[in-house]
Amino acid sequence: MLKVPAFSHKKTFTNSKMRRIAVLTSGGDAPGMNAAIRAVVRTGLANGAQVFGIHRGYAGLLEEMIQPMVPSSVANIIQRGGTILRTSRCPEFLEKSTRKKALAILKKHQIDGLVVIGGDGSFRGALALSLEGKIPVVGIPGTIDMDIPFTDETIGFDTAVNTGIQLIDKIRDTASSHDRIFLVEVMGRNSGMIALHTGIGGGAESIIVPESRTPKKQTVDSICASIDRGARRGKTSHIIVVAEGCSFGGVTHLAEMLEARGYGSHIAILGHTQRGGSPSAHDRMLASVLGAVSVHALFSGIKEGMIGVQGENVKVVSFKKLTGKRQKFSDDFLEIAKALAV
Ligand code: ADP
Ligand code: F6P
Repeated sequence: MLKVPAFSHKKTFTNSKMRRIAVLTSGGDAPGMNAAIRAVVRTGLANGAQVFGIHRGYAGLLEEMIQPMVPSSVANIIQRGGTILRTSRCPEFLEKSTRKKALAILKKHQIDGLVVIGGDGSFRGALALSLEGKIPVVGIPGTIDMDIPFTDETIGFDTAVNTGIQLIDKIRDTASSHDRIFLVEVMGRNSGMIALHTGIGGGAESIIVPESRTPKKQTVDSICASIDRGARRGKTSHIIVVAEGCSFGGVTHLAEMLEARGYGSHIAILGHTQRGGSPSAHDRMLASVLGAVSVHALFSGIKEGMIGVQGENVKVVSFKKLTGKRQKFSDDFLEIAKALAV
């Protein structure tokens, strides 16, 4: 069970000077973002603040797509994937001059504090805003990739992994009926976390991840050896889960290299199917708690930082700490996966 920070223990925050709060979603969408928006809006309103939704992330902020939210604005969304506020990638936001425009717009709308729901890229933008504009900005980790340092959880990961597992279960039915090798590509440009969890949960025979240390151990030969090992003990099908950012230059190239060694395979690219769909119970709970705590943090005078989860504790982690760091990836789990696949 999650434990909230001490500042969340207050029963009411109606005395806070934080009167006008805005919320936006940025970067890749993730199931559970709507539950987080709902929690931000309702926690803010319950404490007497006005809450504004900014549409289309930083790009929408620059176009002043700002709209007041009332309790019914977030009715009937907790179960919906995607983000009702919509999202965007906004390369111009890397320019200080662009952020200056964004800060002027926040000032014009008298926004006292901002909640950014997104990944580490969005948090870099959030840190820049808080430093350059002296406006409090807090972040809620929302990405299916689970690649943000200093948090054990990100909203959307659990749902994405469950979606991946359901699809692998279906692929396994046909793979075993036809005695086939399947390469199943999952999302994760720079992170093998989805592949690892989907692979272990889906009982994959091999899991290929992009993390730098592992490619040395993960060669085409080692994949062939694993297929042979399975065959020796009577397996006629083989599921290989491949993170999209793997070091083999993509799943199609890997299939070609296997083919050249006499191992014909089929490819299934799960792609954006993992980003959509109704959030799991876990993601709804996580998003609701982090959404509420993000607003408590603003009410309590926190100037900047991610509302992360460490163990069972919800903690504020300065955005500054995240810069240049990566989520830790443990090879131990790949070893466990290998042993389980024998
Ligand atoms: P995510 O938040 O999911 O990691 P991105 O990396 O695409 O997604 O970042 C989302 C957006 O955050 C970018 O399109 C950009 O607008 C903003 N952003 C990313 N990096 C920076 C940065 N260094 N400075 C300012 N804004 C940034
Ligand atoms: O960051 C989430 C993510 O889904 C990654 O796993 C993937 O590499 C990327 O976004 C895809 O981005 P886009 O939807 O812009 O193609």
